[in-house]
This record gives sequence, structure tokens and C-alpha cells, in this order.
Amino acid sequence: MRRKVIAGNWKMNMLPNEAIEYLQAFEPMVKNAEAEVILCVPYTDLFYCIMNAQGTNIKIGAQNMHYSETGAYTGEVSPKMLKVVGVEYVIIGHSERRAYYGETDEIVNKKVKAAFEYELKPIVCVGESLEQREAGKTEEIITSQTRLALEGLTPEQVKATIIAYEPIWAIGTGKTATSEDANNSIKSIRAEIAKIYGSEVAEEVIIQYGGSVKSSNAKELFETSDIDGGLVGGASLKPDEFSKIVNYNK
Ligand code: PGA
Repeated sequence: MRRKVIAGNWKMNMLPNEAIEYLQAFEPMVKNAEAEVILCVPYTDLFYCIMNAQGTNIKIGAQNMHYSETGAYTGEVSPKMLKVVGVEYVIIGHSERRAYYGETDEIVNKKVKAAFEYELKPIVCVGESLEQREAGKTEEIITSQTRLALEGLTPEQVKATIIAYEPIWAIGTGKTATSEDANNSIKSIRAEIAKIYGSEVAEEVIIQYGGSVKSSNAKELFETSDIDGGLVGGASLKPDEFSKIVNYNK
């Protein structure tokens, strides 16, 4: 049985003092959660969150990184920098990074490989736009994004990758994919992984759903056959609301 992994993506929100207050409120609410709990926070909150989450079941992740260890890349943060500060997870290839910062499948693949090189666990985002969906291309897009992101990884690395299926039209819009739709898309991602790496590997990969997840729809989504938790943006900004998502099964 795969575990459930529920990650918050704060995006460009929360100052350090707000992050600390959040953690103080959130920790007792999720301490008995069965799901694995991750908060992916801005770079400037990482240190504070890591210090304040010590000894709890809350894991801390970054939202992006460069793929090189060092170099003349003004404004970038390297995988080694994240590792040294105590980061455990890193979101890679979020649709906002693909759309606004030109992240291609090739860059995503380099970042995924770099994450493993520095022992960070990648949460790789894939998802179709509304236009692609309406043109009937959902499956083609998400399977090709998955294949290209994982290219060159060992089967063990593929097993340790978390994939977040996030239809772009559902992100921050209040429109959620139906649980059946999201589950089917995730099944097609799993089938693609099985085609390349075999079903034993595919059955172990955690594949989350993301896009307007909230406490009122989390249970229905997470109790389907193939959705192994969620990547949650807006609804992760309030400890009370996010704790209800984490505790969806209680
Ligand atoms: P949302 O964002 O939950 O606000 O739709 C999800 C995401 O972008 O990861």
C-alpha cells in the first residue's frame, strides 16, 4: 500500500514571523496525522521553518532550485545550499515556473537528477492547460512530461520521486478536477511509468493531485485508487484549513 503524502505549497507568501506562528498553530493539529506532511516554503522561510519543525512530523521543502552546485547564476539557489540548510523535499517544474520562467522538460529533468545527486526528494509537477485539455491532449501531455522528467533515472530513483498531477486550469481557480477525472489522469501517468520501468516500480510511485484542493474535496480525491495525496496551494496558507486536509480521513 502506498502512503499518502500531503504537501503545502505556500508559493510567494509568508514572512518568517508568520511562518513561525503558522508552525506553532499547525503542529499540534497534525501531530497524529497518518499522512506524511510537507510544507514547501519560500527560500527566506526555510531556515526558520526547519528550526521550528525539528522534532515534529512536519517536513520542509523548497519550491524550486537551480541544477548546478555553484556558479555565476545571480539570484539562484543550488541543491547543495538547500541540502546543507536541512531541506528534505523540493518542488520541481511547477506550472508557474514552466509558464513564467521558461522551465522546459529538459531543465526539469536536469533539476530532478540534481535533486537525487544531493539527496533531496523531488516533487515533480506535470499537468495540461485548458487549451490542451479541450483539444483532447491531456494524456499525451502529462505522459510526455512524466517521461521526460524521469529520463535517465534509476528505477530506485523513480520509486523515490513524487509526482504531482496539477491540471493548470484547476490551479488557484477554485475549479477542481472531478475525483474520477483526476484519478484517471493519474492512472495514465502510472501506466506510462510502468511501460518504461515496469509495474513493480510504477506501483510504488507516489502521485499526488493538485489544483484547488480544499478540506471540502480532499477526502473524495484522496480516497480514489490512484491519488496518493495532494499538493495544496491556497488552502495550505491557513493552518486550520490545511490541517483538515492533512487529516482528511479522520
Ligand atoms: P491551488 O495551487 O491549491 O491554490 O490551486 C496548487 C498548486 O499550484 O500547487
